[in-house]
Amino acid sequence: MALPCIEPRTSKKKYKMVKSLSQLKVKIFADGANIDSIKSMSKLSYIKGFTTNPTLMKKSNIKDYKDFALEALKIVQNKPISFEVFADEIDEMENQAREINSWGKNIFIKIPVTNTKGESTANLISKLSNSGIFCNVTAIFTKEQIFKIIEKINIDSKMILSVFAGRIADSGIDPVPVMQDIIYTLRDYKNIELLWASPRELLNIFQADQVGCHIITVADDLLKKLNNIGKDLNEFSLETVSMFYNDAQAAGYKINSNLTNKKNFN
Ligand code: G3P
Repeated sequence: MALPCIEPRTSKKKYKMVKSLSQLKVKIFADGANIDSIKSMSKLSYIKGFTTNPTLMKKSNIKDYKDFALEALKIVQNKPISFEVFADEIDEMENQAREINSWGKNIFIKIPVTNTKGESTANLISKLSNSGIFCNVTAIFTKEQIFKIIEKINIDSKMILSVFAGRIADSGIDPVPVMQDIIYTLRDYKNIELLWASPRELLNIFQADQVGCHIITVADDLLKKLNNIGKDLNEFSLETVSMFYNDAQAAGYKINSNLTNKKNFN
């Protein structure tokens, strides 16, 4: 049987030009716990808020939770900043949430979607948001977890839902349709913002924008790549080639060949 004739895929189509930062609707938050970095990010108009978590704080060698938070709050006064509770008992989480919330006006309290025993924090989130505390529900991976939260809260509650799109991708699942579906689920909740957490590549910022996520939180190493937006790919290729060449030179690599003058390898 003859194979069907397939047109060679040598399209002359140009790659679609990405939007520039100023055209994006998605808000970029800076994810991290390094005070110097928070300081420099706070001066950038395109950084619209900040997120932290206990793991990032530990990585930044933070010893005193409150000292760190107060220092960060001195720097970040007019943009939202999230701090996470770290207790495992729901009552203790509530105490921590109320204490942290008393440290400033621009704070979102990060509450993990469950504790380590898998017990839902939906009741606590509802209680905190009814008392005027802005929650950022974190470590969300599924739409079912979102249903559990939104069925308990007042439709007017202002909150952030952090879905770990990057970790979902780490499990081999494309997070784009997942996020799209969640955006649809939240369509009537005008005060809930969906946050794309743990991005893995710069492209995720554009994907988050395209599916209608309100926020994406981006760590330092990825933020450094923002300069690549719109870069000419031929120029990028040349830079990459130069990188290989320069690194080989710097490492002093040499290959002593015995094949000199033996042009006929057969
Ligand atoms: O904002 C959440 C983020 O800090 C977690 O990122 O890379 O540990 O999945 P990652």
